[in-house]
Amino acid sequence: MTDQTPAATGAGETPVCRRLVGRTAVITGAGSGIGLATARRLASEGANVVCADIDEQAGKAAAEEVGGIFVQVDVTASDQVEALFKAAYDTYGSVDVAFNNAGISPADDDSILTTGLDAWKRVQEVNLTSVYLCCKHALPYMQRQGKGSIINTASFVAVMGAATSQISYTASKGGVLSMSRELGVQFAREGIRVNALCPGPVNTPLLKELFAKDPERAARRLVHVPVGRFAEPEEIAAAVAFLASDDSSFVNAAEFLVDGGIAGAYVTPV
Ligand SMILES: NC(=O)c1ccc[n+]([C@@H]2O[C@H](COP(=O)([O-])OP(=O)(O)OC[C@H]3O[C@@H](n4cnc5c(N)ncnc54)[C@H](O)[C@@H]3O)[C@@H](O)[C@H]2O)c1
Repeated sequence: MTDQTPAATGAGETPVCRRLVGRTAVITGAGSGIGLATARRLASEGANVVCADIDEQAGKAAAEEVGGIFVQVDVTASDQVEALFKAAYDTYGSVDVAFNNAGISPADDDSILTTGLDAWKRVQEVNLTSVYLCCKHALPYMQRQGKGSIINTASFVAVMGAATSQISYTASKGGVLSMSRELGVQFAREGIRVNALCPGPVNTPLLKELFAKDPERAARRLVHVPVGRFAEPEEIAAAVAFLASDDSSFVNAAEFLVDGGIAGAYVTPV
């Protein structure tokens, strides 16, 4: 069901669409950054939002703000992920959208020469195994409904190499991209779309702090961004809302880049 009635955002002025009225969206990592911005956006489009996070305080605050429910979950634990999608279904009666977004980017994941097996494995678990688990436990609900949209957060580093390596992170995002493509193909005729969202660098508090301390580090990256700035979390959330909605009904198994043109650039404007 799509309600096309324009509605006002919290700010009062900007008209937004209401493409997700009556839909239930599960968001992992909803307590911060891209997940939080997406919780706000999907709720503003009428969705019932299930905010999942390992961080109880942040996840609860997000759920309260958007009028949804909070489920504390470690996305690396199969039984907890299973319980998450069951809670969504038991509360709202459907699982229409799964935004499998929780991820980490720890400092000890660096060059392959210095990254230990522990760091490698931890990043693979949180960034890649989690997406396997979330898809595995969301799909049966969508199969029964004959409809669903899964959006897995990969990254632009899944399609490009960086000399400033985070080797396990990059490999994990490559895995998310390939897995999403395969699932999108496998389940397409059951009405389920699976896409990999590939954001470019986003202005999160962590990134801001890092680059405020080290302008040279920021400049080294910014020179590769044609639009000349990093993304705001709301710009990524807008892409998720599109992929979640029926407006993207023919977008499936896609590498959905939201990167300001980074992956298409050779020489950028001065
Ligand atoms: N920020 C960027 O520049 C950028 C760029 C491309 C892709 N991404 C990806 O986008 C996603 C979100 O990134 P962000 O910048 O919003 O991060 P963030 O750190 O702001 O938020 C991540 C959230 O995930 C939660 N989380 C971490 N481990 C968890 C676990 N085991 N179980 C449940 N929840 C867990 C955290 O508590 C946090 O609330 C990640 O997958 C990240 O790799 C980020």
